Amino acid sequence: MLANRNEGRAPDGLPYRVLTLTNQRGMQIQVTDWGATWLSCKVPVKNELREVLIGCQLEDYPVQQAYLGATVGRFANRIANSKFELNGKQVHLSTNQGLHQLHGGVKGFDKRRWNILKEGDDFVRFSLISVDGEEGFMGNVEVLVTYFLTEDNAVEIHFDAISDQDTPLNLTNHAYFNLENATGGSDVRQHRLQINASHYLPVDCQGIPNAPLKSLANTSFDFTQGKSIAQDFLQEEQQIVKGYDHSFLLHHIPQQECATLSAPDNSLRLQIFTSQPALQVYTGNFLGGTPKRDGSEYADYAGIALETQALPDTPNHPEWWQYGGISKVNERYQHWTVFKFI
Ligand code: BGC
Repeated sequence: MLANRNEGRAPDGLPYRVLTLTNQRGMQIQVTDWGATWLSCKVPVKNELREVLIGCQLEDYPVQQAYLGATVGRFANRIANSKFELNGKQVHLSTNQGLHQLHGGVKGFDKRRWNILKEGDDFVRFSLISVDGEEGFMGNVEVLVTYFLTEDNAVEIHFDAISDQDTPLNLTNHAYFNLENATGGSDVRQHRLQINASHYLPVDCQGIPNAPLKSLANTSFDFTQGKSIAQDFLQEEQQIVKGYDHSFLLHHIPQQECATLSAPDNSLRLQIFTSQPALQVYTGNFLGGTPKRDGSEYADYAGIALETQALPDTPNHPEWWQYGGISKVNERYQHWTVFKFI
């Protein structure tokens, strides 16, 4: 069942459209056309419908700076010094984090009105045109983002795009999860996390990769066997970014999840499946001050973002282009991620 509501006014002066998808098992998700943002995710757990997404009031979405649930592009994550070279040309981008560009720049895809192309009982498809020169990027890019809610309590997000010039392209969803209490914002570090990855990317204090991919064996980044996020928290290189805020290069095993997040009492688990090469794990190190749905504020570490994407700063690292992040003219960009609740 799909219900439409118009509420409030977005920065472009027009109302937000909020779409609600539900399945036969009572699971319910909400998305809006502002930023093609995932607003809410209520999962049946025993006798309750549990909210698992960190979120705020609709009118606070354009104000909050945490990219809550947003579709992020044209290039998710950072591009160092807001510049790169492609096809022999120096390209200068807009700057929105110190000298760097983060999550697509000043007016990234999260701050755009998306067109609702198609909607059905169990899906919504959004489209967006990103024009040549936008935020400094080259080429006109047509983007489609589709949310599906399946009968087995999974949210599937499909990203499709095509560009008329070679361009960096890295799309993700920026939902923060808390499987225990996303409304109140309990400390997410009590959750257990397992990641099928072999390497991670060290970064400097501004989140810019500053070393080659590093094996995670015998480091605090090793989640291969699963452990509580708190267990090795703030060890080693985590200290300079207040926790985990690192990209993990996934070890793809067919049909297998790349990561599993479990509530502290194991009453709910989230499995993530993806076609993407890497997972940015961000433990909400600077979430403090982000508005909640009741108007009060979250504290740091109230939610964890598990963002499937290419490696950060790929445009400046041709050695990582094999993992994606640069789209060729007229080549189809197609990626999907499944968030399954069990
Ligand atoms: C980045 C963080 C950043 C957060 C909110 C995450 O994707 O990795 O460094 O603080 O987004 O912008």
